[in-house]
Amino acid sequence: MIEVKKVTFIYKEENKKEKVAIKNLNLNIPSPSFWAIVGANGSGKSTLARLMNGLLIPTYGDVIVDGINTKEEERIWEIRQKVGLVFQNPENQIIGMTVEEDVAFGCENLGLSPKEIEERINFALSSVGMDEYRNYPPHLLSGGQKQRVAIAGVLAMLPKYIILDEPTTMLDLRGRKEILNIVRELYEKEKISIILITHNMEEAVLAERVIILDNGEIKFIGTPREVFNLESEIFKWGLDLPLVTKLSKILQERGFDIYYPILTIEELRKCL
Ligand SMILES: Nc1ncnc2c1ncn2[C@@H]1O[C@H](COP(=O)(O)OP(=O)(O)O)[C@@H](O)[C@H]1O
Ligand SMILES: [Mg+2]
Repeated sequence: MIEVKKVTFIYKEENKKEKVAIKNLNLNIPSPSFWAIVGANGSGKSTLARLMNGLLIPTYGDVIVDGINTKEEERIWEIRQKVGLVFQNPENQIIGMTVEEDVAFGCENLGLSPKEIEERINFALSSVGMDEYRNYPPHLLSGGQKQRVAIAGVLAMLPKYIILDEPTTMLDLRGRKEILNIVRELYEKEKISIILITHNMEEAVLAERVIILDNGEIKFIGTPREVFNLESEIFKWGLDLPLVTKLSKILQERGFDIYYPILTIEELRKCL
């Protein structure tokens, strides 16, 4: 479980005004689970992600990952290994000269045998469907492929949780679908907990629970159906409804016999 206890995070930079990015926030994310975090730009999503893997330490309060407080400096690597973080821009995450080298990078510091590293690379690359590109130079890959390699690098650490911070924003539709399929499989097959930070409400529908963040505070936690049942309320937090949900609303208003909220095209098809 990741426990966020009364956490406040304040950015303090020289010659700059302080910014309170997270405000007295409480949250428990069980494992395994698949949660989404949504919120407008600047609502604190990335700050919360960094707090959950110890890249940032709370100004007040505590973040506890499977019983380890992120303030325990000597155990920070244990936490980083448990909670993998995948960022928005795959370009900034690739460091190796080959895909294999890139994926190996994180676990080379774990003191593993070459055989163990080899096995982990195999597992990670096949999980993201990139085995064939093992010896490929990463800069020749598409955005979606690069993002898959970034996920593989995190996977090679055998994390219990993976936080993905808007991982599909820079990708085309195909890349986006690939990433979402991989994420779902990691959860369903490997039982890795997924925390998907997203702007995209269609993606939030995939999660079991959705957290709405606004101005550093949690405004709502619920299932996707509960969240999109809020309708107009969600607009004031800078969010939108999935397209199919909006469409079903219009159809309902025109007299079609469908329930609200419809969350997927599949559901709509069954209704009609
Ligand atoms: N390094 C930083 N220094 C100062 N303020 C920051 C820094 N990073 C983020 N912020 C501010 O903290 C708030 C939350 O940012 P962030 O967590 O990046 O939100 P999100 O990921 O939801 O867009 C924003 O107001 C942002 O401007
Ligand atoms: Mg962000």
